[in-house]
Amino acid sequence: MAAASTRREGFSEMFARETDRRDVSLTKVMHGIWQKQWNVCPGILVDATVGKGRDTLELARISGTTEFPIHGFDVQPQAIEQATELLNREGFVDVKLHCLSHHYLGQRLSEEGVERGTVANVCFNLGFLPSSDKTITTQKETTLQALEQASLFLREEGLLSVLSYVGHPGGVEEYEAVLESCLELRGRGGWTVHHFDPHREGRAPELCPKIIILRKDEEES
Ligand SMILES: C[S@@+](CC[C@H](N)C(=O)[O-])C[C@H]1O[C@@H](n2cnc3c(N)ncnc32)[C@H](O)[C@@H]1O
Repeated sequence: MAAASTRREGFSEMFARETDRRDVSLTKVMHGIWQKQWNVCPGILVDATVGKGRDTLELARISGTTEFPIHGFDVQPQAIEQATELLNREGFVDVKLHCLSHHYLGQRLSEEGVERGTVANVCFNLGFLPSSDKTITTQKETTLQALEQASLFLREEGLLSVLSYVGHPGGVEEYEAVLESCLELRGRGGWTVHHFDPHREGRAPELCPKIIILRKDEEES
């Protein structure tokens, strides 16, 4: 009789399966990836673009523990207020939200006692806050700085997960720069890049949101 398979699904397989789901939005696809990631790689979580707090709330639900802190960043006080209300309403009062640009992420995480090599997932949702001032968007230069700093804090098998909306001015350039920067890191070794560009029906391909995940490799023993 064949032995039951106990092989752990690899990240690439899981990524391919989750991004193949047609019935859900890309936000939900990303949340599915975070959940699967948490199951094999728990740790400190960071939301680099808090907005209304829906992604932060999902991180808090997935973690379900205060053992690992959760940090969030946004430049808009209004976003931090809305997210705080949402998290408190849902019972997550320990999430630390910082009204600060994510290009100070490294400095602030260090001040908070977060050590390098301990963060399991830093997520970025690039674009503007829906139903708000559409001119306040993430910017290529600061996004790249934040990604670089975030990469220094990842534990092995940790993720930088980016959902990039490209329909606003500068959005395509920001997305291309993020992808290029992730590919460059991969070229230096120790990282893998997973990329999903859905080309959804009925929308110009260049306006579809896209997923880029940079994953820190396991260290060789
Ligand atoms: C697409 S929204 C994020 C949506 C959010 N994740 C949610 O679940 O509602 C992008 C957010 O990035 C924020 N943002 C823009 N520039 C930023 C920066 N330099 N640092 C941190 N947040 C920034 C905007 O204020 C906006 O709230």
